[in-house]
Amino acid sequence: MINIILTSAAEYLLSGLERKSGNFRFFIPGKNKESQRYFPDGEVYARIARINDFKNGRVVVLHSGAPRPNAGLVELEIILQILKDHKIKPEVFFTYFPYGRQDKVFEFGETNLAQNLIRKIINYYWVRKIYIIDPHFGKLKWAKKYPIVSISAVPTLIRKSKENFGHDILFLSPDKGGKQRTGIYGFNKKRINSFKIKIYSSKIAVKGKTIGIVDDIIGTGGTLLKFHKFAKKSGAKKVIALVTHGVLDTGIQKIKKRFKKLYLANTINRKEANVDITNLIADVLK
Ligand code: R5P
Repeated sequence: MINIILTSAAEYLLSGLERKSGNFRFFIPGKNKESQRYFPDGEVYARIARINDFKNGRVVVLHSGAPRPNAGLVELEIILQILKDHKIKPEVFFTYFPYGRQDKVFEFGETNLAQNLIRKIINYYWVRKIYIIDPHFGKLKWAKKYPIVSISAVPTLIRKSKENFGHDILFLSPDKGGKQRTGIYGFNKKRINSFKIKIYSSKIAVKGKTIGIVDDIIGTGGTLLKFHKFAKKSGAKKVIALVTHGVLDTGIQKIKKRFKKLYLANTINRKEANVDITNLIADVLK
């Protein structure tokens, strides 16, 4: 038996998961006396009234780190603490890992937030295993030290795009990190700040081709827009986007407007998400 607790950010996945075969039981944390997840001052409430049901089988907490990364983490920690209070050692499944892009010390005086969060979940909350869909730090050396199972939505995104655009798409990564994560060859980029990026043109021939830009995240949309412009200027026939995590709605809208088509996985609850990942979740947990 696999007991799956869905945080409020992951609740939208419930109906899809209920249709999957597997020995799953689903739990939604309880709300406060006003039937809310938040108190009037913004503090988070969560309760697991049926904790005794977990005495047998595995317990998995399913969480999406967006659209509310901070409140979401507080809710996740409350749930993990309740489980710890009852001596339960769970697994955590992040469809999207929050703070995942702060996965290095880029400037003196910063800290690696992604690693700290992983460490805390494992060491303090006794979590046995952490599943993550397309983690930004998936191929970084430090991540290998922890029991992280990295799952990719990219093959599903590629399969879907081929159903509409045929097999002749040239898939490209926007940056070195993308190349490392997916093995898909591509460009080089430098981020100036949250909104501004610079690309270093590559010698890839895109003229007359359908280009599929594969990225892990749409944030501001700046990265994909820049590559769209570059590909079009270089003579690409069509440019489509394949993205795992739709983090910012404003970014998604810009990409939808500019690209021929956006394939977006539903790792975050977004109405534009058109590629379902509940199969990936069910298969890996089984
Ligand atoms: C960067 O390392 C990531 O892989 C994405 O390319 C980036 O986070 C996308 O963000 P934005 O849409 O703000 O350019």
